[in-house]
Amino acid sequence: MAARGNFSSRIGFIAAAAGSAVGLGNIWGFPYEAGAGGGAIFVLVYLFFCFALCFPVMLTELAIGRKSGRNAVGAFDALGHKKWNFIGKLGVLSGALILSFYNVIAGWAFGYTFEMASGNFAITEHFKEYTTNIYAVGIYGFLFMVSTAFIVSKGVSGGIEKAAKILMPSLIVMMVSLILYSLFLPNAMAGIKFFLLPDFTKLTLSVAFNAMGQAFFSLSLGMGTFITYGSYISKNDNLVSSAALITLTDVGIAIIAGLMIFPLIGFISGGTLSGVGRGPELIFVTLPHIFGEIGPTAGSIVGMIFFSLLCFAALTSTVSLLEVPVSYVIDEFKISRKKAAWLMSGIVYLIGIPSLMGNGYSAYFSEFITYVSASAPTDFLSFIVNVANDSFLPLGGALMIFFAAHIWKRENLEAEISMGFEGYEKSWVRKYLRFVMPILLPATLIIMFSMIVL
Ligand code: PHE
Repeated sequence: MAARGNFSSRIGFIAAAAGSAVGLGNIWGFPYEAGAGGGAIFVLVYLFFCFALCFPVMLTELAIGRKSGRNAVGAFDALGHKKWNFIGKLGVLSGALILSFYNVIAGWAFGYTFEMASGNFAITEHFKEYTTNIYAVGIYGFLFMVSTAFIVSKGVSGGIEKAAKILMPSLIVMMVSLILYSLFLPNAMAGIKFFLLPDFTKLTLSVAFNAMGQAFFSLSLGMGTFITYGSYISKNDNLVSSAALITLTDVGIAIIAGLMIFPLIGFISGGTLSGVGRGPELIFVTLPHIFGEIGPTAGSIVGMIFFSLLCFAALTSTVSLLEVPVSYVIDEFKISRKKAAWLMSGIVYLIGIPSLMGNGYSAYFSEFITYVSASAPTDFLSFIVNVANDSFLPLGGALMIFFAAHIWKRENLEAEISMGFEGYEKSWVRKYLRFVMPILLPATLIIMFSMIVL
């Protein structure tokens, strides 16, 4: 399988996988989902799903990928269960849908690098105009997609591994410094309390549903990213410790992002926590405030660096999103990596146009749900988040676990997981997979379906 490219080392794989997980999902998605979902209660449910459900899904994806050495669809064929490759096809579709809106947000962030460089902190008051100007943000998004396609066309194990090793830690250092700064702003504590002290009366089925979707999205699970990346790793690697490290890093960065944003919400709202946008615009309207507080010159430098690092984090995620459909068409339709990368990115960019137009430019896409059904207006981008992140990813993850346990068979799954893991027989992972998963999985499916049906 050398021709498919391999990660140069275990660290390289972990950097790329953590790079896939850490992205806009943590810094853009998590704070706004938490804000909309009642704060700390959302965080609690999210943590539960990350560790209890997503972690085993990650192990399963890695095992399927490493055993088969194929893409998200071909993996099922290679294991001798072609009938089940619809799970992979659902993953390819989810990947395309997610990338289509993700790239729009990445485009906004890219444009913000220049806004911050020019010291335009007042953009928070004009954010709607910013996103309505689809020609400007559309071009930033276009450039972002071109960069993604370029990297994917060169293969996964190139410069991206090296860059991730330096830039990801820089992002963490920067966010922690911003937390330390924002904690001392007036009314910061009101935000922190909302983020950390759960109000159990706010726990509803829809909070649980969104928290589960956010957990899958943030960890890049349920669509075959880790099947694809798993196909590039060595038999000697310990899948359990790799998955644990990736999960902890990703969750840690989401919490750091929350600790950075919520004091700012407290500060901007004068402690009331209201009046600050809670939707996809959240980070774009809160962060410039902190940069403005730091001062015109220093703030614009810090803001520019922050948004460049955010773009980099997003880029390691878009690369992994594009890699899923690309590796599928390379393996299954025998076209070159280069052609596959440019073709798929072009298609996905076009699918993203309604998401681009649904933030002020087009009334139809900005209030999409009102047009297709009678419920509250929702823009096209949020609609795709609901379909792809919150429904397809958990569904894909649940199907993968079901497949591995009952179709591929648990012995085979366990044999693959135990490879490179000494003492597997006695470990808690084995007990968890055998005794807890069979109860947890049906329970989760029930929550999900009741949500979709109700
Ligand atoms: N996990 C990425 C993020 O948090 C997004 C992503 C989802 C990447 C699914 C790949 C697959 O930004």
